[in-house]
Amino acid sequence: MAAVIVDGQAAKAIGKGAMIVFKKGVVRVEGSVRPGDVVDVYTRGGKFLGRGFINPNSNIMVRLITTRRETVVNKALFRERIRRANEYRKRVLGYDKAYRMVYGEADYLPGLIVDRFNEIASLQISSVGMERFKLDLAEAVMEVEPGIETVFEKNTGRSRRREGLPEIERVLLGKEKYRTVIEEGKARFIVDMRGQKTGFFLDQRENRIALEKYVRPGMRVLDVFTYTGGFAIHAAVAGAEEVVAVDKSPWAIEMVKENAKLNGVGDRMRYVVGSAFPVMEEMIKRGEKFDVVILDPPAFVQHEKDLKRGLRAYFNVNYAGLQLVKDGGILVTASCSQHVDMQAFKDMVIAAAAKAGKFLKLLEPYRTQAPDHPILMASKDTEYLKALFLYVEGVR
Ligand SMILES: C[S@@+](CC[C@H](N)C(=O)[O-])C[C@H]1O[C@@H](n2cnc3c(N)ncnc32)[C@H](O)[C@@H]1O
Repeated sequence: MAAVIVDGQAAKAIGKGAMIVFKKGVVRVEGSVRPGDVVDVYTRGGKFLGRGFINPNSNIMVRLITTRRETVVNKALFRERIRRANEYRKRVLGYDKAYRMVYGEADYLPGLIVDRFNEIASLQISSVGMERFKLDLAEAVMEVEPGIETVFEKNTGRSRRREGLPEIERVLLGKEKYRTVIEEGKARFIVDMRGQKTGFFLDQRENRIALEKYVRPGMRVLDVFTYTGGFAIHAAVAGAEEVVAVDKSPWAIEMVKENAKLNGVGDRMRYVVGSAFPVMEEMIKRGEKFDVVILDPPAFVQHEKDLKRGLRAYFNVNYAGLQLVKDGGILVTASCSQHVDMQAFKDMVIAAAAKAGKFLKLLEPYRTQAPDHPILMASKDTEYLKALFLYVEGVR
């Protein structure tokens, strides 16, 4: 087996629990390797640190699978890891039918994501190593949860392209099915695996449910970047008189309409297909005001080098959103950019509020991704979502 020698910093990170070795931490590779091969990782002094998949063409050069020399990387290992990950969701967290079953390195399965929606599992692979075990992984998912009858392969997106993997979207194993209905708080949602990411943004589940307690009958609510109506449907179900759902994807807005019908709230919904900035600018010009505004944009910062530009985009969206909140109203604002930490996110919102002449009170403790997307304490990479529930006042 080929060997990868890493520098002191990378070795220290592994010692603390990190499962990823970046190219910059690699001193040398001994032996010939192809993308996806299993390699052993050592310190300069020859101490064994772990075993994982290598991709010499990727910035993430090794994704560790184990730190034990005796562990064999095979289907049995992955099946056991998936079983443990699933048990954590069910026994510890109490999830039942719709949850993230596997969250990459946080479940010691780097490069693999599995979301379960009732009888369908939506699987995403973002490393060449995992790709080699694709069918084994799909079989293991069905063995672990016999209620799953379909494994849908949602192998699309930027991370796959970065690894040099082809984009594939199809039923990989089991029944030809790609749609189901899940329950979330008081709302129900159609999940279509052919949508964005795995089909549905499970990471905001607890934040969407938390919104229900702030929405009262008679309120006007604006949900910008709504996707299939996540926050909007919860607001309508909680009794809002009018909910405006905005997204640039016509497909997503069609899904909002279907979800509104499913929940019996279609008569209180308005739909806007369009880009958030011009749509909100137009609303500001018309003098529109809302009791609650929700902003849940896509990740504006994909790479650390884009931090400044991305923060400017968050600032612009939040500045516009704040102008649309009534005095005494609520702003729910989120960022799913891993490179934007909570402090930077807070500073950005405070600056946007200052420009808009608003003052903010934190309504809820700082919120993050749902617990079925576990945060590995030693890995910054596993923590990405931030959500603030803010009370907005215009005067002091
Ligand atoms: C993170 S998702 C929102 C998830 C949603 N809040 C939920 O709970 O399901 C971001 C959404 O923003 C939409 N989007 C991306 N860029 C946009 C833009 N410039 N204007 C409006 N919508 C946009 C995408 O189509 C996607 O549906």
